[in-house]
Amino acid sequence: MEVLEAIRKRRSIRKFKDTQLSEEQVKRLIEAARLAPSGSNVQPWRFIIVKDKELKSKLRKASFNQEFVESAAVVIVCCGDLISWKRTRKQVQGVLRRGDIKLGDDAEKELMERNIRAASAEMHERIPTTILNVAIAIEHIVLEAVELGLGSCWVRLFDEKKIKELLDLPEHLYVVALLPIGVPDEDPDPRPRLSSSAIIVTNK
Ligand SMILES: Cc1cc2nc3c(=O)[nH]c(=O)nc-3n(C[C@H](O)[C@H](O)[C@H](O)COP(=O)(O)O)c2cc1C
Repeated sequence: MEVLEAIRKRRSIRKFKDTQLSEEQVKRLIEAARLAPSGSNVQPWRFIIVKDKELKSKLRKASFNQEFVESAAVVIVCCGDLISWKRTRKQVQGVLRRGDIKLGDDAEKELMERNIRAASAEMHERIPTTILNVAIAIEHIVLEAVELGLGSCWVRLFDEKKIKELLDLPEHLYVVALLPIGVPDEDPDPRPRLSSSAIIVTNK
């Protein structure tokens, strides 16, 4: 399937068949996430794959009772590791050494300074950057799900504290989104989008 075809086909799916996913399907979804780009190649994403019925039911309750969180075959709890940025200096050095990115002296100095700041920042200061990076990986999963004939729906409406308690997550893991995934039992029409002219200006 072409990428644009998958993008066009994708919908948020909130009704799933009572069908399990194979290990192979789950592997492919995570592989799509694993290959996502990230700042300084830090790869701050971490995933908890929830299949257990009782746990999914609890996740539903922690997500303001959104029913499809429980009825999905799996819920991927997508987290960002807020302390992964402590490693950025090493990561950047690796990126530069391998010649993955080529920067002039000024840009290289700026990048190193940013990474020193990132490494010494408080955990909560890293939340926006972490969300940005993990979101890319999540959307890779969403599109791979389309390729596999599966449906998913981003879920951000949840009580983060409750989710962390349920899964016994350490403080440095920030829950970016839940991603319920399963075999779709609905085929919604495309939802409205702004026109190109409403979102683009050229040059200015
Ligand atoms: C960051 C984010 C958070 C979302 N959170 C929820 C949610 O908690 N519950 C829900 O039913 N849909 C959620 N959605 C799905 C959006 O409602 C949906 O993407 C939007 O209405 C457009 O529909 P479409 O995805 O079918 O094109 C979320 C989407 C995104 C990207």
